Amino acid sequence: MTKTPTSVLKAKEVAFEKGFAHSCIDEVGQLLSVLSASVQGGVIGEIGTGYGVGTSWLISARQKDVSLITIDNDAEKIETVSEYIKGENIQVLRGDWKDLLAHGPFKLLFADGGQSKVDGADTLFESLEIRGMMILDDLTPIELWPKEWIGKKDPVRDYWLNHPKMRATEIRVSPNHAVILSVKTEK
Ligand SMILES: C[S@@+](CC[C@H](N)C(=O)[O-])C[C@H]1O[C@@H](n2cnc3c(N)ncnc32)[C@H](O)[C@@H]1O
Repeated sequence: MTKTPTSVLKAKEVAFEKGFAHSCIDEVGQLLSVLSASVQGGVIGEIGTGYGVGTSWLISARQKDVSLITIDNDAEKIETVSEYIKGENIQVLRGDWKDLLAHGPFKLLFADGGQSKVDGADTLFESLEIRGMMILDDLTPIELWPKEWIGKKDPVRDYWLNHPKMRATEIRVSPNHAVILSVKTEK
């Protein structure tokens, strides 16, 4: 694994002090930074700022002409994050995930908050640029599913892996954590 940027260490410290255990894991953060580094112009969005760990990974590799907008509906989190994440073309917004959509279309969208990736899946699809990429984390690899999940519907995988206008894959970033990457190929 490459070195964790200082800005990410700071965000992790804040999350730790707040007792927040839902920041993205380092393996997802590394992937976010690689994807962010590949974006030229346009907008990167994040739904669910938390205490800014994912945001800091995204910013760590972003080109300056790429805007980054993150949103969270929790006022305390946004107030905290706004104090230490600032910069040109960076916006930290308080609001429901739907409020982010006015700032698209997105070249890269990390949907990591609320029910957006399930209840708002069509809306998120619409908010992507053609060739824009969605990243979704926090998936349990199927072979590690507890017995009671087996045979149940998995709306996140069903939608984002099988969308007829997207090209998608599920990748394992650690033994017990998978993510979906899904690129919009058609309107
Ligand atoms: C998994 S955490 C985000 C972690 C963050 N992306 C990171 O990598 O550090 C989910 C966040 O979504 C926020 N959230 C929950 N429902 C939301 C909604 N309807 N709109 C916006 N944010 C929401 C929560 O307050 C929480 O901070």
